[in-house]
Amino acid sequence: MADAGNPNEAPQRLWGGRFEEAPDALVQAYTSSIQTDLLLFRHDIAGSRAHARMLAAQGIIDTADAATIIQGLDQVESEIESGGFEINHELEDIHTHVEARLGQIIGADAAGRLHTARSRNDQVALDTRMFVRDAIVQAVGAVRGLQASLIELAERSLDVYLPGYTHLQRAQPVLFAHHLLAYLEMLDRDADRLVDSFARADVMPLGSAALAGAAYPLDRQAVADELGFEAISRNSIDAVSSRDYIVEFLSNAAICMVNISRLCEDVILWSSAEFGVLQFADAFTTGSSIMPQKRNPDIAELARGRSGKVLGHLTGLLTTLKGLPLAYNRDLQEDKSGLFDTAETLIGTLHVLARALLTAQVNGDRARAMVDQDPFILATDYADYITRTGVPFREAHGVVGRLVRLCEQRGCGLSDLTLEDLQSEHPSFEADAVGMTVQAALESRDIPGGTAPSQVLAALEEAKERLQLKPAGQPSSQPPSQPAASSSEPQLETGLNRAQRRAAERAAAKQQGRR
Ligand code: ARG
Repeated sequence: MADAGNPNEAPQRLWGGRFEEAPDALVQAYTSSIQTDLLLFRHDIAGSRAHARMLAAQGIIDTADAATIIQGLDQVESEIESGGFEINHELEDIHTHVEARLGQIIGADAAGRLHTARSRNDQVALDTRMFVRDAIVQAVGAVRGLQASLIELAERSLDVYLPGYTHLQRAQPVLFAHHLLAYLEMLDRDADRLVDSFARADVMPLGSAALAGAAYPLDRQAVADELGFEAISRNSIDAVSSRDYIVEFLSNAAICMVNISRLCEDVILWSSAEFGVLQFADAFTTGSSIMPQKRNPDIAELARGRSGKVLGHLTGLLTTLKGLPLAYNRDLQEDKSGLFDTAETLIGTLHVLARALLTAQVNGDRARAMVDQDPFILATDYADYITRTGVPFREAHGVVGRLVRLCEQRGCGLSDLTLEDLQSEHPSFEADAVGMTVQAALESRDIPGGTAPSQVLAALEEAKERLQLKPAGQPSSQPPSQPAASSSEPQLETGLNRAQRRAAERAAAKQQGRR
């Protein structure tokens, strides 16, 4: 911005009239949010365009003024987009910056009419709701990308099995793909939660003004239609005070980040020499400044670390809201930095992990060897063997426990025991119990949800069918601050494509009317 104005004249601040002196520089710096909420400029300007158009349609401002305002807003938007926009802490926030610049472009008279029947309180609620809608759409798209990568990795590792763990102690063999599909399920619920929350963000608050509603005959539905909102808010006090739609997004993001964090913990373990099961490509691995041999899975560690930060943002906003009386309080300005950081962290984390997993090399020999060389990993299968002959499972459990003890005394594994050894503990063992195989153990879990290869294959096919996944990990070309591409999530009608659909419907209805 060329010149944002002289602070002593304070001509562009939105509330100078009743004050005798300009705010102290410390106060300006302390209260300003422009460094953060500049990110909302597209939403803010889209909201202002819709508001101006509606004011004119309702005869509240002149059509010519509205046209001038809209043209001026277009220019402000391209100035901000091109980076040639100067920020000025005297102008507090994005709303003031846009209006001040608009005044410089089209003159104070027309620009001064834009804020008719509007307060920054409903304006900021509108902008953040639009941001949250976009963030949801992009987050769901990014979750789908990570799911697609998990499926791709599972499909090319179908012959890999490894120990499944409980208490981080080897428990039973499972297919590597089965383990990966557990994360696919977690991510599925994450996407469901995000999609489900969309409707509660998708409510248009303009018209609530400061808190009591506007004293003009606004067409709130027209604004909602232009901006693609499904509903208009039902209570003006609620509309300017509530941030639970942000809490929901932060909460859903926190759950998703925690799920991702668990995946990352597995990846980190698998990348260690002790496991040696998985390696990201060099491009997705980092080194050490002192130890030349190191290959560190830093992206997984950062994702795990950043999940803590996202949890913090959720706790922070809940704490901010907890003691707030109705209606708007300036505390609410603090909702944005955590929201923006959460959206960027969540979406960025999903994208980078989706790409990294596509590069993952799985060391199947090493994974299988951990099972094949484990002396007792089929212990449950020995117990199941005699249980199938009619022995109560509790008794079978005791029999195999004693066999394990025998092996420990001899320093061997269960598969080294002879038929006589087995029968010394129970007569139901027959020749086919000697040297039980991992493959047989896997295949025996042939039940929906189980790790039998046929079941895992079916689960993979079902997941691909259900999710209709596109190639994984392609980061969207737009950062979360920008309106999402309408194609990014077919299940979720975005505000933008809904606006387009509504416009088309209105045009069609007009056509019908003319005939
Ligand atoms: N920057 C403010 C926020 O983010 C906008 C609303 C300001 N409203 C007010 N009454 N000071 O909350």
